[in-house]
Amino acid sequence: MSFFELAKKRYSVRKYVSKSVEEEKLTKILEAGRIAPTAANFQPQRLIVVQKEEGLTKLKKSADIKGAPLAIIICSDHNTSWKRRYDNKDTADIDASIVTTHMMLQATELGLGSVWICHFEPDILREEFKLPDNFEPINILAIGYASPEEDASQNASPDRHDSRRKPLSETVFFETL
Ligand SMILES: Cc1cc2nc3c(=O)[nH]c(=O)nc-3n(C[C@H](O)[C@H](O)[C@H](O)COP(=O)(O)O)c2cc1C
Repeated sequence: MSFFELAKKRYSVRKYVSKSVEEEKLTKILEAGRIAPTAANFQPQRLIVVQKEEGLTKLKKSADIKGAPLAIIICSDHNTSWKRRYDNKDTADIDASIVTTHMMLQATELGLGSVWICHFEPDILREEFKLPDNFEPINILAIGYASPEEDASQNASPDRHDSRRKPLSETVFFETL
């Protein structure tokens, strides 16, 4: 599968079957995140893998993970992330999001579904997982096997981008806005 085919195949899966994710697949997903680029290679990402009942129950207090059997909380350590000296711009969330993207696409390649979740209550997440103040939870990536209905739906169509994404003419400008 080419990169473009993979990117078109991926969709946000919001209904999963109960089958758990094999350990070797989880390891490969985490490795895909590990090799992601980060600003100045500072690697501020700190990942919490949640797949046991106790952890999933804690996670569900903060977010709807759509019934996925596995979720990865992608945090960034603000004490480690790169800051641009001109304006102190902190790349913590950019770095965490590149890591998340690598893992999301790796999951697709392994035949798994996923959904990226930012709609969570950060204070509850911090409390439940005892995050230190310098750790910011940036994304949650819920992963599992998509339900057959989801896979058969229009949401999964690799052609959906024709209508569900803006044309390049609305988002890309050559040389000047
Ligand atoms: C930064 C970000 C945050 C998102 N947060 C959520 C979320 O909290 N809940 C959810 O169901 N989907 C969430 N999504 C998924 C988007 O809604 C989805 O990617 C978008 O509608 C395009 O659909 P597709 O992923 O199926 O192509 C998020 C995606 C991104 C990139």
